[in-house]
Amino acid sequence: MSALDILTSDTTDLRFPSGFRWGTATAAYQIEGAATEDGRTPSIWDTFSRTPGKVHNGDTGDVAADHYHRMPEDVALMRRLGVTDYRFSIAWPRVQQTGRGPAVQKGLDFYRRLVDELLNAGIRPVATLYHWDLPQELENAGGWPQRETAQCFAEYAGIMADALGDRVGTWTTLNEPWCAAFLGYGNGVHAPGRTSHLDSLRAAHHFNLAHGWAVRALREALPDTSEVSLTLNLHALRPLTPSADDLDAVRRIDAVGNRIFLDPVFHGRLPDDLIRDTAAITDWSFVRDGDLAAASTPIDSLGINYYSPTVVAAGECESPSPWAGAERHVRFLPAPGPRTAMDWPVDAGGLYELLTRLRDDLPGVPLLVTENGAAYHDYSDPSGRVHDPERVSYLHSHLTALHRAIEAGTDVRGYFLWSLLDNFEWAYGYSRRFGIVHVDFASQRRTPKESADWYAQVIARNAVEGRQEG
Ligand code: FCB
Repeated sequence: MSALDILTSDTTDLRFPSGFRWGTATAAYQIEGAATEDGRTPSIWDTFSRTPGKVHNGDTGDVAADHYHRMPEDVALMRRLGVTDYRFSIAWPRVQQTGRGPAVQKGLDFYRRLVDELLNAGIRPVATLYHWDLPQELENAGGWPQRETAQCFAEYAGIMADALGDRVGTWTTLNEPWCAAFLGYGNGVHAPGRTSHLDSLRAAHHFNLAHGWAVRALREALPDTSEVSLTLNLHALRPLTPSADDLDAVRRIDAVGNRIFLDPVFHGRLPDDLIRDTAAITDWSFVRDGDLAAASTPIDSLGINYYSPTVVAAGECESPSPWAGAERHVRFLPAPGPRTAMDWPVDAGGLYELLTRLRDDLPGVPLLVTENGAAYHDYSDPSGRVHDPERVSYLHSHLTALHRAIEAGTDVRGYFLWSLLDNFEWAYGYSRRFGIVHVDFASQRRTPKESADWYAQVIARNAVEGRQEG
């Protein structure tokens, strides 16, 4: 059966609520290229990718998918898909060279053109302010472990609100601050590549603060904007067994992986158990009066990025670990089942578990799935087609799980597929392809994969076919 037959076969459709938002997602450093054009300065990812041994094959985002020059073609691709929304990120060093001071007009112009192109195509822009590309100068001044970076971020949010606020209705402050703090400053697999548990905890706090201050800046500049949001990669945690020790392992990782952001942002407090678990690293005295109140400035929705679940048990974690010591006595186990090219397990149940947990823990907070998708080793066949049935099956099972969560009373308003285009997959460079559109990086030719045709049909029907969840 071909990918398209899945939707045309005689089965019961699982329909999504009317007005459900169907999108694709990308991030600036992963697709734009044009790394030194129009005044853009280096970000921590430019520096990191140039550091030998940090990124697979020495790949960099210098050219990436050349989206900076091919933006109208990419918007046209989305228009053909029929997406209602597009989630992109703004490269901070493109619009504020040192992360401080005046805006770079040419940089702002690029995003103005992008937003206009989207609106002309009938696509709603969803702008993320920070998807990991901190201006290098701010890292030189101390980076996210430094409180001042949060202040700079709030000013940058204000600049962007002034530049695009009349045309962008949905703003996301940060993408996955867990990765930025703990992979960037904890185990060093992401930029800027530092390995200090203290730095990662300080960074996490300053991300919460930066988020809250940016929400305030956006609200001040845009009193009528309907939607300000935050995107977290919450960990869908499962204990290996129901034993008290394995459940305690879940609790520890939940504290340092999930509640470290959820509690400040939604409840204005830090989890007590997190403070206890990290006592050997810090007393958290870098948290000042008023910080947690700022972090909990109300937002309109929460974005969730989900790829696969995490299984933990009592035991010893491999080092270097990103978990800031809170993982002492925790072992991470491979979840069973088929895997993607990232070696990530395919398990849609984790998405259901995460969404229904948020339904219970954060009543009244609308949710968006702001990233979900899969990498496979795709290639174009002699007829020029890219046949990617595994991606279709991955997407199908996750949309089915999402539908089930909505039926179970979870208020999910939209789904953004990661990713529109094959792109620079961080430390994996160009070796992992997440796109539903294939990019030949030598020619920059775009070829929609079969999954793109499949997704277009899902969007057109506002439904997935109701076969058994994979
Ligand atoms: C997420 C990132 C995104 C992409 C996907 C695969 O953690 O937000 O940029 O790399 O993983």
